[in-house]
Order: sequence, then structure tokens, then C-alpha cells
Amino acid sequence: MIIDLRSDTVTKPTPAMKDAMFAAEVGDDVFGEDPTVKQLEEKCAALLGMDAAVYCPSGTMTNQIGINVLTQPYDEVICYKGAHIYKYEGGGLMGNSHVSVKLLQGDRGRISVDEIAANINNDDQHYPHSAVVALENTVVREAGSVYKINDIEKIAAFARSKNLCMHLDGARLFNALTATGDRAADYGKYFDTISICLSKGLGAPVGSVLVCKNEFARKARRMHKVFGGAWRQAGYLAAAGIYALDHHVGRLAEDHVRAKKIGACLQQQSYVKSVMPVDTNIVIFELISTVTPALFLEKIGEHHIKALAFSATEIRIVTHLDFDDVMLERTINTCNKLRF
Ligand SMILES: Cc1ncc(COP(=O)(O)O)c(C=O)c1O
Repeated sequence: MIIDLRSDTVTKPTPAMKDAMFAAEVGDDVFGEDPTVKQLEEKCAALLGMDAAVYCPSGTMTNQIGINVLTQPYDEVICYKGAHIYKYEGGGLMGNSHVSVKLLQGDRGRISVDEIAANINNDDQHYPHSAVVALENTVVREAGSVYKINDIEKIAAFARSKNLCMHLDGARLFNALTATGDRAADYGKYFDTISICLSKGLGAPVGSVLVCKNEFARKARRMHKVFGGAWRQAGYLAAAGIYALDHHVGRLAEDHVRAKKIGACLQQQSYVKSVMPVDTNIVIFELISTVTPALFLEKIGEHHIKALAFSATEIRIVTHLDFDDVMLERTINTCNKLRF
């Protein structure tokens, strides 16, 4: 048995999810005729207290559309320096939307009103026009650190006062809500566009949803087509998303407990220099200088466990739907017995 902890995207649909997929009523979504896609979009918009939604193949696409509808070419997006939209989307912001970015340090990726305030460009022809504040919750590069809704409220109020739009990369928003106890429906008050992923902790095989305010819905639908995301009988996949939202949100807390146990175990190991705080389902740790990520992955791979090299010195482990307590025990036992 291989234990795959590289990402929460590696999960396979459960039998019950597959049943829901096969039973889906479908139609051609480009003609607006897929009832299951519509149901998913309406469900997501309602859940987040937003007006509209567009179902897309990936979180990269929902982020890229979100930024695109909120900006004009030559605008600037303000975000954390390790934000997924900037660091891990292939330069799409620049290519797709022709915008620049202002990169902030943040506190484990959580940017503050003060930092944003200090980085809004003056209305001067020399500078790009500051247009959007983009947050990520949870912050993947910072081991799934979490914004609380109160902090988001402050940032949103400030952004509005400066005529900045708000985008959220909520690839793991439900992990954040699980950790904070905040309400999903409050998010709609603070953002213009929100991307949520169904294919990460929620365990759907594919799919992300961009929820947005009405004023951006038409352009979002248009860009969905332009970016090649307009699909046909996508209801089979949307059904997996609906199933995931109905059945897999409540169990995310288990993933967090297991991640914390792995983090605590790693903290004890002589080959580990430091472990980032574990707030949700992501563990990132730094190895001592004599142990490279490649060596660590090779050794753990001998025990049929997969993790991810996250930098020249760091490893990432992500817990998920297909990782249970038996696998947790094996992982912890293995980490305890590795020698370098
Ligand atoms: C925070 C975050 N945003 C966006 C994405 C992009 O999602 P996708 O892989 O579906 O394009 C990811 C993917 O892991 C992510 O971690």
C-alpha cells in the first residue's frame, strides 16, 4: 500500500461519489443546459453569500478568471509574495491579464491592512494602478495558515475605502472554516470574487468554482470560454462537487488532527531542523543541512510513503480523504525509525 502525502489533490472518488456522478442529469453547459452544473453553481453562490458562480476545471482557472474580471491591463494586484496566483500559476497573471503584482511579506502569508496601505501606489502616471487585494485562505506556501474573518473584514473595509477590489483564493477555504469556526456565508460580504476548489480536501476528482458578485458574472462567464474552460456535459463532474460539499466538509477536522500528529512527530526527529506551525492539513518542515529533500524522499519512499520536496531544504506533507488512522500510524512509525 502506497501512502501518498504529496497533496490533497491525489484522492480518488469514493464509491458513493461515483454513484452520484453516474446518476447525474447532464446537458450541454455551453448552452446553459446542464442542470447539475447549474445546481452546483447555485449551491456555491448561496453557500458563500454571493450572487453568481461559474464551474471551472481548475483552481488555477478560477483564480485567473477572478483576477481578470477585476482588472484592466497595466493594473497591479497586491498579494503575499508566495501567493499561489503569483508563484504557482505559471505567470498567468501577467500573461492572461497583463497586470503586475506588488508582493508583500505577510505574517505566514497573511497580509495586513498596514502592509497593504504602505503598498498602494499613488495615482501617478509612473506607477501601475493598484486595483485588487488578493488573499489566500488557507495559505498553501505557509503550511495552511489561516485568516480569521475579523481580519478579512478589516482588510476588506480598507480596500473598499481605497477603491480596491477583493479576490480570495479559497482553494482550501473549507479547511480555514473548519479551523476557525467562521461562517462561509460571511465571505460573500468581503470579496468580489472567490475561488473554491472541490478537488483538494473535499475529494472531488476535478473542479473549482468561481463565485462572484453579479456585476462580474457576465465577464467571468465570457473568460471561462476564452480560457478554454467552457465544457459540455460537465454535470458528471459537478455531481462529484455537490457530493463533496454535502459529505466531505465535516470530516476535514480529521485531516487537521492527523496533520498535527505528523507535525508533532517530526518535531522530535534529529533530521528535522524545524516544523512550521500546523494549523490545518498541511505540514511543511525544514531538514537539517546534511539531509537533502531528495534523500529524505528516497528513504521514506523505501517505506512506500510519498511526500513533496517544497524547496531546496523543505518537505511538504498534506493529509486528505484517502489518508486514515492506519496510514497515520505507519507514517509516524516510519518517521520515527528513519536514520540518515
Ligand atoms: C492555494 C491554491 N490555489 C490554487 C490552486 C490551483 O488549483 P488547481 O491545481 O486546481 O489549478 C492550488 C493547487 O494546489 C492551491 O494550492
